[in-house]
Amino acid sequence: MALTQPTARADHGAGRCPQGGAHCPATHPGAILTHSAGTPDARYTHLREHHPVFHDPEFDLWVLSRHQDIDTVLRDATGTYSTALSYTPIRPLGTTADAALAAGGAVPVLSSTDPPEHTRFRQAMTATFPTTDRAVRAPDTDRAMAEETAAVAATFAADPGRTGDLLTGYAQPAVMAAFGRLAGVPRAGHRAVVAQAAALTDLVWGRPDPDRQLQAAHALAGLWTYCADLVARRQHLPCGGDLLDAWTAHTGADGERMSPAEVASTLMEQLIVVGELLPRAVVTTVAGLRAAGPWPPPQDGVVSEAVETTFRYHSPLVGWLRSTTREVELAGTTVPAGARLLLLLASAHRDPDRAPNAPSLSFGAGIHYCPGAAYTRRLVHHAVTALATACPALTLTDPADTDPTRWNSNTGVGGPTHLTVSW
Ligand code: HEM
Repeated sequence: MALTQPTARADHGAGRCPQGGAHCPATHPGAILTHSAGTPDARYTHLREHHPVFHDPEFDLWVLSRHQDIDTVLRDATGTYSTALSYTPIRPLGTTADAALAAGGAVPVLSSTDPPEHTRFRQAMTATFPTTDRAVRAPDTDRAMAEETAAVAATFAADPGRTGDLLTGYAQPAVMAAFGRLAGVPRAGHRAVVAQAAALTDLVWGRPDPDRQLQAAHALAGLWTYCADLVARRQHLPCGGDLLDAWTAHTGADGERMSPAEVASTLMEQLIVVGELLPRAVVTTVAGLRAAGPWPPPQDGVVSEAVETTFRYHSPLVGWLRSTTREVELAGTTVPAGARLLLLLASAHRDPDRAPNAPSLSFGAGIHYCPGAAYTRRLVHHAVTALATACPALTLTDPADTDPTRWNSNTGVGGPTHLTVSW
């Protein structure tokens, strides 16, 4: 199905908006782009109540906002929903940007493969990755996170200006240092990786203009080349004990190995998440703690609770994509085969009708459930703790930074983009 051919009429699933609201995303094509912007609670409540599934003709997306429907799609085990288009831009790119991206030669990442390919690929990726709480707390893994975040926090604290942006000055280098050590990514490449990771966010979930499209396509192609080169070197020269070596050497029960391209795409997917999502989660957690109580947080448990709150209500991943492989009925609306679905995770988090024990969908559900969830929680915890130790007098200096109406957001990623602090 060509993405430029809408799968439904403009009003499909939108119907008449009972409130006729000027900002109702269901009746204003394209408005869904900034669904999480500002204070979105009323917007999400309106969508869940009046347009739980609707078609946005501007992006040719079917938008789901209820926890139950999103949960059903994520947990599907029948092949009704596919991940194949998860990283296909919501707006087709111009030919120049498309060509630049294709020239990079990247292969599908784990989260955009379906079974049976997905089953083998995931088994290989997770066999050596710390996916459980217990595994991330294993002494070596935990110590590495603590040491790396503490070292970056000490450097940040030693800055004589004693003021700066927490996102770029601390959160990004701290999480990259920790994950870089686990994966085997040289420090010299970290800064470029963070910039390249941001390109994906714009390209897939935003509406970049042609110049930004081209710039972002080159950045992503560059990240792919970087990952492929790192992996190629490891084929002949293992460094010892990091993820790149482990993935390269891993042999499955059936004797299958991950190809160098699969190892490179696995690394690339993880670097994008670490570079783009994790720093935002760190900043959100720090802002939440500073707003709610004393700093430094008096107990470890306070930090853990703040991390949970971040992922329960303010996760940086506000939307996620799937597509249908056959016609389906969702919340009383018929969605055609080949339709792209935008799952409003941020709305699901706030859905009062979800079952009391329903799990948060911040890290997905079902066979694609984020294998990095436990690692993410622990790393954010370490990053916040290390900062609290190094900067006990940290204060937020610009109230505008925590004003959600000032944040950039797109269909997939939201949250603070900077946080000015002094210490
Ligand atoms: C803020 C942090 C993170 C968030 C919010 C997040 C969120 C998600 C979500 C929602 C999914 C599920 C997608 C689906 O059901 O289709 C997912 C999958 C995935 N995540 Fe994460 N993630 C985070 C951090 C990480 C980290 C640190 C890693 C690894 C280093 C990671 C690796 C992956 C991979 C490989 C998949 C695909 C799994 C599969 O398809 O089987 N994520 N993530």
